[in-house]
Amino acid sequence: MIDTARRILADARQVVSFSGAGLSAESGVGTFRDAPQGMWSNYDPMRLASPEGFAADPGLVIDWYAARRRTVGNAEPNPAHVALAGRLDIVHVTQNVDDLLHRAGARQVIQLHGRIDADRCHGDCGYAEHVDMADPPGLRDCPRCNSPLRPAVVWFGEPLPPDAWDAAEQACRDCDVLIVIGTSAVVYPAAGLIGVAKAAGARIIVVNTQPSEASPLADVELLGPAGEIVPQLLAQE
Ligand code: OAD
Repeated sequence: MIDTARRILADARQVVSFSGAGLSAESGVGTFRDAPQGMWSNYDPMRLASPEGFAADPGLVIDWYAARRRTVGNAEPNPAHVALAGRLDIVHVTQNVDDLLHRAGARQVIQLHGRIDADRCHGDCGYAEHVDMADPPGLRDCPRCNSPLRPAVVWFGEPLPPDAWDAAEQACRDCDVLIVIGTSAVVYPAAGLIGVAKAAGARIIVVNTQPSEASPLADVELLGPAGEIVPQLLAQE
């Protein structure tokens, strides 16, 4: 199967990667839906990752993000990030809020669900600032408008950043091959990008440790850890 996938890639003019939490799993950043250790098996996403949860208990949300920030700050890019970043021609569309693709050297990264290494004003005055992942801040107010600051990530019920969405949709419409890596493909609208690429004629290569909602759209499905499969897939002759 990997040879078939490599042949498909060799003939491609434009390749896009579309990744989820499984891409960073081997770096020690937990996924959301892999029972029993997936984050949403142990924590209620509506309490920790929604505007309603933040309104109900902002301190709980900020403390939880502080722990996640320390985890991401201590994590290193794994061989899958490095292999993807080594292909400067590939546009990387990711649902991940970590910075591991950037730290591996990737240049064209579109983060659909925002980024965990920044805070922004919850009151939408537009204020944003980088945060220290080794020493993440507690609950604090926006220096510009006194609304609370919150992680610059997309929460359940919130729209995706329009610029990121437009760029991702365009990239998926224009590509010959979409490599779907480590996502359950159940969270929309992001997961809909696989169908966008497929409908526009792209071949779909899926890399995952198990079948997922992306499986029915796959031209080739490669089952195994991304850290092993992606470097083999993208290795130059
Ligand atoms: P999920 O946790 O839903 O899915 C992770 C996928 O990665 C699963 O299909 C696993 O089988 C697969 N996987 C696990 N380890 C892997 C490995 N080493 N190599 C390859 N695949 C592996 O995560 P996402 O699909 O990213 O949203 O979830 C989508 C969104 O739901 C996230 O962006 C987040 C979450 O709620 C927001 O934060 C808005």
